[in-house]
Amino acid sequence: MKRVLLINGPNLNLLGTREPGIYGSETLEDIVVDLRSFAQERDVDLSDFQSNSEGEIVTAIHGARTTADGLVINPGAYTHYSIAIRDAIAGVDLPVIETHLSNVHAREPFRKESVLAPVCLGVVAGFGRDSYFVALEAMIRHLDG
Ligand code: DQA
Repeated sequence: MKRVLLINGPNLNLLGTREPGIYGSETLEDIVVDLRSFAQERDVDLSDFQSNSEGEIVTAIHGARTTADGLVINPGAYTHYSIAIRDAIAGVDLPVIETHLSNVHAREPFRKESVLAPVCLGVVAGFGRDSYFVALEAMIRHLDG
């Protein structure tokens, strides 16, 4: 069975109440419950991890070397400046898909740059909760291919 780890970065634990006009009114748990069913239907084992701390995300990426076949990550604001997370992704031999609820290209200029995207397989952004499903589907197809 393929194993995918979903990582959510800072402030994503506040989904549901955090800027609902941008991020929607569902909680992260609501989305993860549905993602788990989506994965199960495809015979994929999905685990998930959320942290507000850069170091914990780096450690989770390292740990995934032995526990996952691929990563889907919404790095939150770390997307735009975390060289430590970029180096962690580059340093593990795992496919990684970056995902965002919002269309980061249609927002403030500082959100247009991702320091992580160049070391990821691809990026999915702008589809709200569906971004996670599209990213997971793309990862499953990649692992099956
Ligand atoms: C986000 C976009 C980031 O720019 C922001 O800092 C977030 C959420 C998204 O999912 O749209 O925390 O990653």
